[in-house]
Amino acid sequence: MQLIHFDIDRFLSDHWQKTPLLIRNPWQDWANPLAPDELAGLACEDEVESRIIRQTKGNWALEHGPFPESRFARLGKTHWTLLVQAVDQHVPDVAALIAPFRFIPNWRIDDVMVTYAADEGGVGPHFDQYDVFLIQGLGRRRWQIGALCDGSTALLPHDDLRLLADFKATDEWVLEPGDILYVPPGVAHNGVAVGPDCMTYSVGFRAPSRSDLIEGWSEHLLDTLADDDRYADPDLRAQPNPGEISPDALARLHAMVTAKMADRDAFARWFGQHSSTPKYPEQDWRPDEPVDEAAVRAAIADGADLARNPASRFSFVRQREDALLLFVDGQCFECGLDTAPFAEELCATEQMSLDPELVGLDEAVALIAALLNQGSIAFDEDEFET
Ligand code: SIN
Ligand code: CO
Repeated sequence: MQLIHFDIDRFLSDHWQKTPLLIRNPWQDWANPLAPDELAGLACEDEVESRIIRQTKGNWALEHGPFPESRFARLGKTHWTLLVQAVDQHVPDVAALIAPFRFIPNWRIDDVMVTYAADEGGVGPHFDQYDVFLIQGLGRRRWQIGALCDGSTALLPHDDLRLLADFKATDEWVLEPGDILYVPPGVAHNGVAVGPDCMTYSVGFRAPSRSDLIEGWSEHLLDTLADDDRYADPDLRAQPNPGEISPDALARLHAMVTAKMADRDAFARWFGQHSSTPKYPEQDWRPDEPVDEAAVRAAIADGADLARNPASRFSFVRQREDALLLFVDGQCFECGLDTAPFAEELCATEQMSLDPELVGLDEAVALIAALLNQGSIAFDEDEFET
């Protein structure tokens, strides 16, 4: 699925992580993929993360879902927004909105948040830490963008919402169905519904903070370290002042830390597993009975298609031309000559037909069985339902 008149290379060099871009309806034939009442239905479910933001005279109020159906009838005709997270994991047509942006690596993709706003509804001027494509699905929304913000930008005093204290628009557009606004991290933005039934689909990305990376990687390392892996100085010599921590000692201590921290292969394994761990694991595709390799062979011979669980994450790290580490839902699979092409295809496509030749490749059959049994893939695309 490609956007019309959208030059990916140009977008990456001129806009990605740099400046906003308005893309006027680049779809072949835009159709809003989700009806407002279906979105409201999702917001009533326990396993779906949802919020309502209301503007009350000069103030902002936040409510967390799940909501009883009756909540929506009491919201009034203006000044409120319903936000539902990770709708792509429940609605295949919403998941399909990610396809045009697959030129961004899988591990950078977060989810598709969907908002529904009543007339004049919005979530207030703010900035996000992440890149986002804001796709106007239904109705119209006025988007304003402003300055680049950071941790020192003044915010309104509010317990739950991070709204800008002082937002000045530098540009604005009214988006119609199918239009897309790309907003880079840190750029102030404010979207307000113009008229009723305004739906926006936010294809959001993620970027780990340095502190999250260091925390996660160190925690992982700690699990691998033995208590007797200690400082040792069998070559110690008498030193003139016992108070000095000598350069030799410091070098040895520092190396004890940095040598482990700098282990690139171990880091690649950890990061692949860490970044492929699903955020919302509720979409459970695990079969009732474990699938065995004979069943996998039979399905391949039958020409079965594979579908990826929309909540699952697929990435790989290439080790050599014919060897890679496949990461799926926090698990690492070592893939050699027989499995690497399949693993690469799996990472590149959400649905695939299985090559009949895989029947004869024991490692590939075992890998498919493992992925089926952990619920990351399924033979039947009917699984792709709420
Ligand atoms: C919205 O759709 O109203 C909010 C999306 C955003 O600003 O990130
Ligand atoms: Co935003």
